[in-house]
Amino acid sequence: MKKLLTILIIIVIAIGVSAVLLRSSIITMTYMSTELTPLEIIQLPQPQLNSSTSIEKTLLERRSIRKYKDEPLTLAEVSQLLWAAQGITNTSRNFRTAPSAGALYPLEVYIIAGNVDELSDGIYKYKPKTHELENISKGDIRSEIWNAALNQFCVKKGSIIIVFSAVYNRTTKKYGDRGIRYVHIEVGHAAQNIYLQAVSLGLGTVAVGAFNDSKLKDIIDMPEEEHPLYLMPVGRI
Ligand SMILES: Cc1cc2nc3c(=O)[nH]c(=O)nc-3n(C[C@H](O)[C@H](O)[C@H](O)COP(=O)(O)O)c2cc1C
Repeated sequence: MKKLLTILIIIVIAIGVSAVLLRSSIITMTYMSTELTPLEIIQLPQPQLNSSTSIEKTLLERRSIRKYKDEPLTLAEVSQLLWAAQGITNTSRNFRTAPSAGALYPLEVYIIAGNVDELSDGIYKYKPKTHELENISKGDIRSEIWNAALNQFCVKKGSIIIVFSAVYNRTTKKYGDRGIRYVHIEVGHAAQNIYLQAVSLGLGTVAVGAFNDSKLKDIIDMPEEEHPLYLMPVGRI
């Protein structure tokens, strides 16, 4: 009887130990698999906070430009455009260049890079708080975006394509359905900032609203809760 009890205790201990070992190896494997594919982070140059172009001149010269030279943008220009779109301008409260209802910031900004000095072609997500780009995938996919944008030539020709998406729930959880209206107003603010910044940099851009939502979402592999709203190819003119 005593022998049987000892065997039973040994079996119970053995099961317990294997369960613990199995759990820790699963955790290690998960950790390793995330470690194997780290997201590449690119620190963007600090934006310029001064220029010789007046705000009046940028408003006067703002135009939708759809033809671009086949010349690269610099990383500094990309940095400036992203800062204009959603850059942080108040570090204590994280306020940004564009206003946001309730400071809830539903917008996300991507760039599709196809011709930028010091930046590999690929999809990147802008991280406003650290002014960084997070690489999502590598390769020039401008033709795919062009295809999703009903073959509008300007989309194929931009050195980069800026993509705005929104997580509606960030705003609607506070404002209900009216939040949808706020999100759409906000993307207009951010897009206008890009238009004006492009004038100041001597670059061309156009706001593009005509595209296939689900195709675009698939190409970029956007998280489920994000919805694409606007495209802005940018290039040298
Ligand atoms: C909501 C919205 C969607 C637009 N979608 C497109 C588009 O898909 N393709 C395009 O070439 N231009 C598009 N435009 C740009 C307009 O055609 C352009 O603003 C208009 O012709 C006036 O020209 P301007 O921007 O030079 O003043 C869009 C503009 C807005 C505001």
